[in-house]
Order: sequence, then C-alpha cells, then structure tokens
Amino acid sequence: RKLAIIGMPMDLGQTRRGVDMGPSAIRYAGINERLNTLFDEVRDLGDIEVGRPEVSIDKESNLRNLELIAEKTTSLAKKIDEVVQSGSFPLVLGGDHSIAIGTLAGVSKHYENLGVIWYDAHGDLNTAETSPSGNIHGMPLAVSLGLGHPLLINIGGYLPKVKPENIVIIGARSLDEGERELIKEKGIRVYTMHEIDRLGMTRVMEESIEYLKERTDGVHLSLDLDALDPTDAPGVGTPVNGGISYRESHLAMEMLAEANMITSAEFVEVNPILDERNKTAIVAVALMGSLFGEKLL
Ligand code: ARG
Ligand code: MN
Ligand code: MN
Ligand code: MN
Repeated sequence: RKLAIIGMPMDLGQTRRGVDMGPSAIRYAGINERLNTLFDEVRDLGDIEVGRPEVSIDKESNLRNLELIAEKTTSLAKKIDEVVQSGSFPLVLGGDHSIAIGTLAGVSKHYENLGVIWYDAHGDLNTAETSPSGNIHGMPLAVSLGLGHPLLINIGGYLPKVKPENIVIIGARSLDEGERELIKEKGIRVYTMHEIDRLGMTRVMEESIEYLKERTDGVHLSLDLDALDPTDAPGVGTPVNGGISYRESHLAMEMLAEANMITSAEFVEVNPILDERNKTAIVAVALMGSLFGEKLL
C-alpha cells in the first residue's frame, strides 16, 4: 500500500481567512509520523500552487471566486489523476470544502461507480440559485452531481462525477431549503444527527458500508471537520452545535478501515486561526490513523 499526501491551501470557497493554512496545520500535527508505519510508502507531494490571488465576485452568477476556483481545482484534479494512475492512495489536505470539486474530478474517472461518503454538518448541495451565501464551499456535492455552473461541473472534461444513489451523507444538521428539496428529489441517503443519536454510530456505519458495497467499485471519503462537534473540532469556519463526537468519529473511521473500502480521502475546513492550539488538525490526524488501520493492540 502506497500513500500520497497532497496539500490544497485554498480558502476561496468562503470568506473566513485562515483555512488556506489547513495543510500546514495538519502536517504540523504529525501526519507523517502517524501514517508512516501504516503504509509501505508515504510520499508528501507538497501543496498545489494556489498563491494569494485577488478575490472577486462573478457578476453574472453571484458566485464568489468562481474562475479562480475552477482554475485551482483543475490543477488539483490533474495531480490526483496522476496519483491514482501511479497506484497510490490520494489523501488531500484542505483547504475549504470547494476543493472536493477537484478531488472528485481527479478520482472519479478511474471508477465505473464511485461512492462518496460526505461526513459533514452540511449537505454542500447548493447551486447559485439556492445558495444563501454565494460561497462555493457550500456547493461541491451538487457540482459533483453535475448541478451548478458549467465552469465547475465540467472540470476534468466529464460529468457527473458521482450518481445520487452512490452518496451517503453522515452528520447533517444544517441544510438549506434548496438542499432539502434536492435530497428528496434525488433520493440521496442521509444520516442526520437524529439518526446517529437514534441508531448509534455502529448501525449507521454498518448500513452505510453495506449500502455502498452493493453498488460501488470505490469509495471517496470527504471529511469536513465541522461534522464533529465544535467542542472537539473548534477550528472550522462554519461550526454547528450538536455534532458527532470524537469517539463516534474514531469508531466510524475504524469501521471503514475494517470494511477496507475507502479508495481516496480528503480532510477539509481545518482553520488554525479559529482553532485552539491546533486541536482540530490534531483530531484530523488521529482520525486518519484510525481510517488507515491503526490499532491499539
Ligand atoms: N449551507 C451554507 C452555504 O451554502 C454553509 C455551507 C458550509 N459548507 C462547508 N463546507 N463548511 O453557505
Ligand atoms: Mn460543513
Ligand atoms: Mn462541507
Ligand atoms: Mn481509535
């Protein structure tokens, strides 16, 4: 097993600065040391070049930094494509969640039926028409379904990146009206905090794993740190109370490791400026340990 780490220091999908420092914060939290023993080879490929471009709002669509995000996620997609091609597992460090547009564009062409686990307080299923904010980090899952601005949905030259029946959202507790409608219309499987409380994380993960095993040939894990409760992961730009606990999240990752089904992953929305002593990046690295099969005994 070979792992390739790719940093995506981009904060253009939302308005709180600092999430571009997420990859540094996660590296500083000891990702290499933690994952070294779990793989035959760990390569850190460094960061995708994002720079510090001038922010802008597309007048026509009202989307913040549309063209820049299209350009930068296209570079990410190319890099991810190479990594998958070379037989390594791609692990992307964010960056705000708009980077998932690029990750999925790079990964999905390698599968007939890519599954996606969207571990998040939010659905990220908005389009320009339904978005309350104009922030593209609230749109990547819709974009990957082929819904949204042509500059975003066509990245990689194909669409969609994922089919609605191949998605499982876990941890949702903040959905906008248009996102609710889309979930119902497309029949997307969602485990909200209600189901996590009611069924317990064990059953939620058993069901999710079984559901995805039946219909997919690879599964991407897109983990937004705001899925966790803000007491466990305070360094995020859009925290929502009543989230998944640290322990439930470890359990979820351990069950995914046992199921041996995840083929790519990204950890996003870590914002060290809003954090407490790098706590959120440390949580991210600990969860990666469990996801990649770390065991106490
Ligand atoms: N639904 C809100 C929006 O569209 C919040 C999205 C938050 N997304 C995230 N990746 N943290 O603006
Ligand atoms: Mn979120
Ligand atoms: Mn998100
Ligand atoms: Mn554990």
